[in-house]
Amino acid sequence: MKDLEERLKELDPARLPKHVAIIMDGNGRWARMRARERSDGHAEGVNSVNRITRFSSDIGIKYLTLYAFSTENWNRPQAEVDMLMSLIGWTIRKETPDLVANNVKIHILGETDRLPEEVRKSLLDGVEATAHCTGLNLLLCLSYSSRWELTRAARELARKAALGEINPEEIDENTLAGCLSTGGIPDPDLLIRTGGEERISNFLLWQIAYSELYFTPVLWPDFDNAAYLEALIDYQQRERRFGKTSDQVKAK
Ligand code: FPP
Repeated sequence: MKDLEERLKELDPARLPKHVAIIMDGNGRWARMRARERSDGHAEGVNSVNRITRFSSDIGIKYLTLYAFSTENWNRPQAEVDMLMSLIGWTIRKETPDLVANNVKIHILGETDRLPEEVRKSLLDGVEATAHCTGLNLLLCLSYSSRWELTRAARELARKAALGEINPEEIDENTLAGCLSTGGIPDPDLLIRTGGEERISNFLLWQIAYSELYFTPVLWPDFDNAAYLEALIDYQQRERRFGKTSDQVKAK
């Protein structure tokens, strides 16, 4: 592979994805391959989180969404859940000053009521400390699943309709999108999944309707700037047609 600086020149800054979403997979396998504990894989995964956040911010990505803990992840062994919760809380506390320094704004998506009190506190402190930041928006999905989010949106709309606040006939795509955790945020242009598996796992099902999908065998702890750059360059080689023909897109 060419060296990073050379490869970076191949990236067209005018055609960067505005929003990149990532399913960070492969921490456990990374640890197993080294005969280490799964917790070591998660701890190493945090280095990737920091690295990819920094790189996204440096190259001018506006939104980075990370699937850090799914609703289904609550079903993992309690020790692993506890470990992940403290790791997430600890990381946010530790990284917040750096995020502020780099003008990165934290957003939290998910059923935060289910998170342990001290983790929720670290996250809320992070959100508050970075509220004024105007650079990269870092969206952390925690206790998140798309079906949870869509069900919550349906409940909210039904409640409003029952109260007569909205007319069911007037509910359109924008109304529903506005009830999601990502309301007001552009849909992901690029969805990356590391770790070799090719599925969506209940992540942003509504929002990725027209996202470009990129699957890589690289395990999340090994996902470095070079691997990320490959995904971004691959994205820039794709033709996004949004249902139109290739000729229509080219004529634009
Ligand atoms: C998937 O790998 C990874 C997770 C379920 C956890 C990801 C969380 C982090 C990297 C910490 C994030 C921290 C912050 C602050 C955002 P896996 O355990 O499913 O790996 P496997 O498929 O190889 O077993």
